[in-house]
Amino acid sequence: MDEDNVIVVKSDTTEYLDIIGDIIEGEMGFPHSYYALESVKSGWARTVVAFLDDTPIGVGIYYNIDPEICVHYYIVVTKNYRGLGVGKILVSSIEELNKNSTIFLATTREDNHASRRLFRSLGYIEYTWDYLEEKVGFKTVREIMRATCGFDDDLVMVKASSDDSLSLLARYVWKRRKTVLKVWRDICWKPWIRLRMH
Ligand SMILES: CC(C)(COP(=O)(O)OP(=O)(O)OC[C@H]1O[C@@H](n2cnc3c(N)ncnc32)[C@H](O)[C@@H]1OP(=O)(O)O)[C@@H](O)C(=O)NCCC(=O)NCCS
Repeated sequence: MDEDNVIVVKSDTTEYLDIIGDIIEGEMGFPHSYYALESVKSGWARTVVAFLDDTPIGVGIYYNIDPEICVHYYIVVTKNYRGLGVGKILVSSIEELNKNSTIFLATTREDNHASRRLFRSLGYIEYTWDYLEEKVGFKTVREIMRATCGFDDDLVMVKASSDDSLSLLARYVWKRRKTVLKVWRDICWKPWIRLRMH
């Protein structure tokens, strides 16, 4: 990629669902592309796609729990274009599209250093589930896990407009636990059941 190339991010790109599926499957494998597409088909999630000229080089999938909470569900950049700032462009674009959100969340695994660095470099603070449980209690952590579909991950990354981001997160998620349950059922649980039945 030379300096003259321009990266264009297109949002709410449901017409690119095939591209999104191909990129996520190619980079992360089938179950991930399946869950990502199911989240969009459920009506909850929306998408951004980064293009370099006409080539799609990265995708982001996110959803809201009311306008206040925005969850980055998948951020994926194709291998040849990693380490060039595309991930940061995708996350920042999602933040820009969700200016009304006061809390942004993402989850990842401890050994996913690229993902951890990506979010940390944009001001996200990471917590282990155990640490969160000590701070806000098991029931609230369960709601945060549901809200993020982050059961298979070790870390949750939080960016909030308040200094006391954990109390804000706990309060927001607990207050919206009915919506959280719906999101979890549609994005996480039902697709999991359907996958098992095949
Ligand atoms: C995680 C991922 C999206 C990052 O995308 P990217 O375009 O390479 O990230 P960027 O170039 O914007 O880099 C963002 C930060 O992460 C750092 N980084 C990128 N790749 C890294 C790596 N392999 N190891 C450590 N740090 C890394 C960059 O140096 C940068 O940090 P800085 O701003 O402090 O210098 C990409 O690696 C990817 O698609 N991974 C597979 C899918 C995945 O695991 N997604 C996350 C969970 S859904």
